Amino acid sequence: MHLAQILFTQGFGTRRLCAGIVAAGRVRIGGHVVDDPQADIATEDLVFEVEGRPWPYRERALLMLHKPAGYECSQKPRHHPSVLSLLPQPLRNRGVQPVGRLDEDTTGLLLLTDDGALIHRLTSPKWHVPKVYEIGTKHPVTDEQIARLLAGVVLDDDPAPVRAAACERTGEQALTLTLTEGKYHQVKRMVAAAGNRVETLHRSRFGALQLPPELPPGGWRWVQARDIEAVNAGAPAARD
Ligand code: URA
Repeated sequence: MHLAQILFTQGFGTRRLCAGIVAAGRVRIGGHVVDDPQADIATEDLVFEVEGRPWPYRERALLMLHKPAGYECSQKPRHHPSVLSLLPQPLRNRGVQPVGRLDEDTTGLLLLTDDGALIHRLTSPKWHVPKVYEIGTKHPVTDEQIARLLAGVVLDDDPAPVRAAACERTGEQALTLTLTEGKYHQVKRMVAAAGNRVETLHRSRFGALQLPPELPPGGWRWVQARDIEAVNAGAPAARD
């Protein structure tokens, strides 16, 4: 693929802008400046540098963000900045979107991608992708509350009970909850329905992907192709 076209597909701006970036000598491959926008470059395992910053070539972008509190997942945030503002411009230009949403005050693992089909599959209720939440509660967690969360609680928008796939107390006022659906404010509403209240909420896992302990709040990293498979592996076959 022509180098200018590579930059274009990776979100570096219009075709003209990308040709200009290359012609200005701002792109290196293997440590060498390549200033011919038409240079034919193999994209497999390609890492190119733009002004010293390395970028892996990705046909589709998939990344994980350690979402800090105080950011909204919506595209048109109303009260707080968007999580997208934590990403470099090329990723935003590519149109990456959060896979599902976390509340403004929720922290932890958020996946983002420009692959609409992947978003659809990972958020579809047909696929029971497990998500693990670490919860700090207002009141001490009781055995009865755990039992209710596991047995199923009724939320106000649906008569069918929703239940946690797994739930365990991790401290006097702390529990870990695994959900395979993603209803609006589901964790907070379930915990309230069980007779407690969520004070802090952190997602530590999505499918088979775990938030790496070394990724600081606000930090992001690419998810590797093999990790995409791990996400898929986290989801049992679609059930209808
Ligand atoms: N459930 C909630 O209540 N909030 C989140 O952010 C995620 C799950």
